[in-house]
This record gives sequence, structure tokens and C-alpha cells, in this order.
Amino acid sequence: MASLVSLDLHCHILPGIDDGAKTIEDSEVLARRLVEIGISHVVCTSHIQADLYPNTRATLLPLVASTQAHFDAVGIPLKLVAGSEVRMDQESCVPESWLTIGDLGKHVLVEMPPGMPLIGSMDALLFDLQARGITPIIAHPERQAPLQKDPEILARWVDRGILAQGTLCALAGAASERTVMTLEGFLQRGLIAFMGSDAHNVDRRIRDLDQAVIRLEEVVGAENARLIRFQNPQALLTGEPIIRPAPYTPPVAPGLFQRFLTSFKRA
Ligand SMILES: [Fe+2]
Repeated sequence: MASLVSLDLHCHILPGIDDGAKTIEDSEVLARRLVEIGISHVVCTSHIQADLYPNTRATLLPLVASTQAHFDAVGIPLKLVAGSEVRMDQESCVPESWLTIGDLGKHVLVEMPPGMPLIGSMDALLFDLQARGITPIIAHPERQAPLQKDPEILARWVDRGILAQGTLCALAGAASERTVMTLEGFLQRGLIAFMGSDAHNVDRRIRDLDQAVIRLEEVVGAENARLIRFQNPQALLTGEPIIRPAPYTPPVAPGLFQRFLTSFKRA
């Protein structure tokens, strides 16, 4: 069996077009770090946001190709996959500007604007995308205050076929306690199909990812961790169905009294 890809679904690695890497040298440093931690493929999810980052499919695709050519020339074994992170507002959500993952027209990473009503406007935009045959992947739902408050909103979206991506570094503690608890709750309910770094440079969200991977396995179990880290990302690239992780309850660590009884029996 061919080995599965290790894909970072969310990364601002393209130079000079959003708040991620500023120069090709920054991109190169980030790429080398991702390779170091075992990543083989990265989806280039530069922002598409009408008021701040007016990127489009037409401007992003050549930059993915030229950045890949640079990495190949300097010997960095990292495959870039086209993509974007679309701000879910009426102004940014114009079909001509979308760059879907792998430019396959099947999945797009979407970011919710702060303060947007989640029931109503957001429902309408998400379901409109689905009606066009494009499955939205919600970026970092654990950071959205309304979803922290009411996780059932995300559960209903996932029940309707919408997907979600969590932020890996949060599992290594690089987030507020509330964000971490929300993410772990989503993961244990099987609401998160993918994880991503959301790295903007080597200083931000890229440290301790190896510890985060260990924590992921503790939170969702080995089988789900493999699904989230390898199987679903691979399916995204090949067009296979994305599988929803099974709900998981981590085993409870033995309490003090139980440990005392065990040692008493051994004595
Ligand atoms: Fe992002």
C-alpha cells in the first residue's frame, strides 16, 4: 500500500500576499520547519478577503507554481497544493475568486468573520456553497465565541455534511483554556475531520507540534488520530469520501485511591 501523505491543510506559506510569509525567504524557512516535523504536503491557504486581501484564484495559482518551483530548486521536499481561506462574507464569497483545495472544485476552507450571526447569514452562505457542489471546511471553529458557547451549532453543520478543521498548536497549549477545551470537546464528538497548523511564520503556531500530535492521540484515540492526520487529508487530494471520526471517550487515568489499592494488593 502506498504511504499516506502527511498534509497541513491550513498554512499561510505563500509570500507577500496576506499576513503570512512576507518574502520567499520566509516561505523557505517555514517550509523547512514543516518538512522537519514530517509534513510532506501543504495546502496554501492564503486569505481571500475583499477588504484586506483581494486575492483570487487567478492571482493565487501562479504564485503556488512559482513558490513550488523555488522549493524544488533549493531542494525542499515539500509539495504545495493550491487553496485559499475564504472569508465568509457576501463581499468575499464570489465564485470567481474561490480557489478550492487542489483547484478540484470540491472543498474550500472558510473562515467566519467575527460578529457574524451564525444562524441565518452563515447558514445561508454555507448551504449555498453546498448547493454549488462545494463542501465548506470551517477553519478553526474552536476559536469562534458563538461556537464555544453553543457547540450544537457545529454539530448541526457537521450532520449536514459540512467539515471542520482544528488548530494543531492549540493541543500543545498555545491557545486560551476555553479554546483548548472547546477543541477537545469537538474532537471527542467526532466533529473535526482535519487538523492544520494555520502557521503564518516559524514563530507563530509552529512550535511544539510534535507534542500536539501526541495530545491528539490521547484525545481521540489512535484510530481517529490516523484518520484525521493521514486518511482524510489523502482523501481530500484524491476525491475519496471524507470519513467522520467516531466519538471517543479517553480512558480515565486511575485516581489516587485506586493506585493505593493496586500497590496494596501488590505488596
Ligand atoms: Fe488562516
